[in-house]
Amino acid sequence: MEFESSNWIKDGVYFYPHLFGGIMITCALLSFSTSYFGKISVPTMPYLFPDLRVFHKNKSAKKRVRVYMDGCFDLMHYGHANALRQAKALGDELVVGVVSDEEIISNKGPPVLSMQERLALVSGLKWVDEVIPNAPYEITEDFMNRLFKEHKIDYIIHGDDPCLLPDGTDAYALAKKVGRYKQIKRTEGVSSTDIVGRILSCMKDAKSDKLFSESSGEVDNLNNTQSSKSQVNGGHISHFLPTSRRIVQFSNGKTGIRIIGAWAKFPSCYIDGAFDLFHAGHVEILKSAKQLGDFLLVGIYADHTVSELRGSHFPLMNLHERSLSVLACRYVDEVIIGAPWEVTKDMITTFNISLVVRGTISEKNPLMNGKSDPYVGSKEYGNFPNA
Ligand code: CTP
Repeated sequence: MEFESSNWIKDGVYFYPHLFGGIMITCALLSFSTSYFGKISVPTMPYLFPDLRVFHKNKSAKKRVRVYMDGCFDLMHYGHANALRQAKALGDELVVGVVSDEEIISNKGPPVLSMQERLALVSGLKWVDEVIPNAPYEITEDFMNRLFKEHKIDYIIHGDDPCLLPDGTDAYALAKKVGRYKQIKRTEGVSSTDIVGRILSCMKDAKSDKLFSESSGEVDNLNNTQSSKSQVNGGHISHFLPTSRRIVQFSNGKTGIRIIGAWAKFPSCYIDGAFDLFHAGHVEILKSAKQLGDFLLVGIYADHTVSELRGSHFPLMNLHERSLSVLACRYVDEVIIGAPWEVTKDMITTFNISLVVRGTISEKNPLMNGKSDPYVGSKEYGNFPNA
């Protein structure tokens, strides 16, 4: 029986070696030239050149999108954090310009927090990759070119509220004109002005309470601070409507980071507090706590606990507002929303806490007289820091 022979390849190589060699070299050259120089997508036999990545450089080097958002970030709140979270989602790297004190004074009036405090707060957010201090209030042509050339910015971003200069013109007009402007949704229910209002009303309430207790001869103790005013958020009205989605959005992002140079001794640390009006000191203590462990769990006291601790006019920010601010911090892995005053053995076991951390400045309120040591459970359990 005769079979069709496929020995013609062998015969060809044997009888015409030069011709065959030429064909092979031509094929190899064609495959390089068409895929690399000509950008025609002919496969380049990657299995033959696994480590010569240069041949794939056009495909793998995808440009990272860099976005810029600026702001005053005075009395930093979860509305600012939410703006930066949304901005980060529009690119790969977020650069934040913190407007200088002088520029804020001439465009809006004096800020409450200093440049250093505002910088510390912005840098502590988990969505922020780089910070530009002393940024201008207006996107001028010079500054815009600096952003594009020096900082390689692709888009300039701002909330959907109008940002006007004293002469009524739009601070972002130039960026809009060149098509490099994007907008995010402003978070309703909170603003720096609203927070200043809460502080003022808290002071006013405290003053009238003092006058009342002096005239009626009452002693300002834990019991009489439980007045009708203290029921919700120290009597200050919050317009914030917390949703589970917002909490999830704030929980995601850059968590589980390790601080370079730090030596983590404990798998999981716990720190608790009111974290009212989140400020630069809070960022600092959370950073120090994070240096002690791999995972940082933060307990945020319930509103009534804060009222008992600090007086009926507190907290200024309610539990959910305070929780979002803490969750937005880059050093925090998880929060307990409404943590109890006392760290019990049960909590330590449930959350697998290996170290309970406390700052050197602890609550020293006369209202706390007679209230138990919150860390007694953890001390007995042997995981309270000596620091
Ligand atoms: N922003 C936001 N939601 C808020 C407050 C601010 O999305 N509730 C956004 C702004 O639109 C801006 C950025 O956060 O893009 C920085 O705002 P900032 O310059 O600090 O000032 P304001 O817009 O005046 O905000 P606030 O009144 O709270 O200071």
